[in-house]
Amino acid sequence: MRMYDIIERKRNGGELTDEEIGFFVDGYVSGEIPDYQASALCMAIYYQGMSARETASLTMDMVRSGDVVDLSAISGVKVDKHSTGGVGDKTSLVVAPIVASCGVRMAKMSGRGLGHTGGTLDKLESVPGLSTAIDRERFERIVSTVGVAIVGQTGNLVPADKKLYALRDVTATVDSLPLIASSIMSKKIAAGSDKILLDVKCGSGAFMKTVDDAVALAQSMVSIGEHVGRTTVALITDMDRPLGRCIGNALELAEAVATLRGEGPRDLADICVELAGNLLCLAGKGGLDACRGMAHEQMVNGEALAKLKEMLVAQGGDVSVLEGGCERLVEPRLSRQVRATSDGFVFAMDTERCGIASVALGAGRATKDDLIDYSAGMVLARKTGDSLHEGDLLATLYAADEALLDEGERIFRDALDIRGERPAGAPLFHARVSRDGVERTDK
Ligand code: URA
Repeated sequence: MRMYDIIERKRNGGELTDEEIGFFVDGYVSGEIPDYQASALCMAIYYQGMSARETASLTMDMVRSGDVVDLSAISGVKVDKHSTGGVGDKTSLVVAPIVASCGVRMAKMSGRGLGHTGGTLDKLESVPGLSTAIDRERFERIVSTVGVAIVGQTGNLVPADKKLYALRDVTATVDSLPLIASSIMSKKIAAGSDKILLDVKCGSGAFMKTVDDAVALAQSMVSIGEHVGRTTVALITDMDRPLGRCIGNALELAEAVATLRGEGPRDLADICVELAGNLLCLAGKGGLDACRGMAHEQMVNGEALAKLKEMLVAQGGDVSVLEGGCERLVEPRLSRQVRATSDGFVFAMDTERCGIASVALGAGRATKDDLIDYSAGMVLARKTGDSLHEGDLLATLYAADEALLDEGERIFRDALDIRGERPAGAPLFHARVSRDGVERTDK
């Protein structure tokens, strides 16, 4: 078999066999196939796409390239949740403890911030002492006893994705639907949970800018999951404005804690109930409506907050910083109030640019070795649809020095589209995709 022929067939719109896909994945991971041929194939896939069979085959070859986590020693159904990435998305910090407080085990491997999007591990590590680098044995022990742990990838999981993702990142082939679907699903399958819930974000802050593209990605991932016997459901949710009001690691953890005290912003609370309800339903806790009710109850009765603290302590964190309004979690630093310069409405927010502003303030990494400032970020006072008078507060920015605040303010102002007219209302939930099909839920 020759890599040249595989590239040529895909370039011409042909369908690759399982053997050809396996030859590519094995050869690329072992170093026999060079980067230039792998990037040519990624570009051919970018333009020609892949069939459902090809995408499933690529996914399973990627899974087989490394270790697969075996969670069978932990009793009960294990569920996992994955978000395709957004700005202000702290849902895992709320949803995982809700689900665990209902007796459903969640063994979650999360990632770090990537580009303009935040990462759950960075948010968790804003708690002093907390570790997300936990070995397999301790991870399983925490999931068995506490019911939930959120850690970084352990072992050699999906090395094919590590190599391919780094290549795609520098060859303009990240936003290819079959490549995104196989990248995400290979990691979820290798992580070992029985049931998978995907939160596919859609809008200006997401990979997928339109609902149709998000639905297509969701259908591809659901089909891969079902193909290998993992029940998979995807919700398509809005990322045309940041989720909640806080962007930045410690600020987002504080907002998650407020949400678990029943004091969170409405959009964040609603989305967490929907995600947790779907996870409970996947775990067989009841019908979807009953599970939504159960999730809401746990969110406001303090049990999920107690579960979050239990998990943080088990991972070595000092939870005394969560007392009161989490004042000790977010360290004192320079702040700046950004105010409106005219009357009108926030007509739209370029959510990706809001994320970039937060990175510029110090909350994210420009390169993978950069240190992050856990207390940097912003609290939004106004979001899309809100009316404004000149001088009204738009957001408070937090950073370590004035130069960072200047840059953050410049990018944030650029992200706002302020007009004299109110925009049409936009739904938070667009669709639910499962093996039964696509249910539009625009509301
Ligand atoms: N997230 C991933 O893990 N992989 C992609 O390809 C895109 C987003």
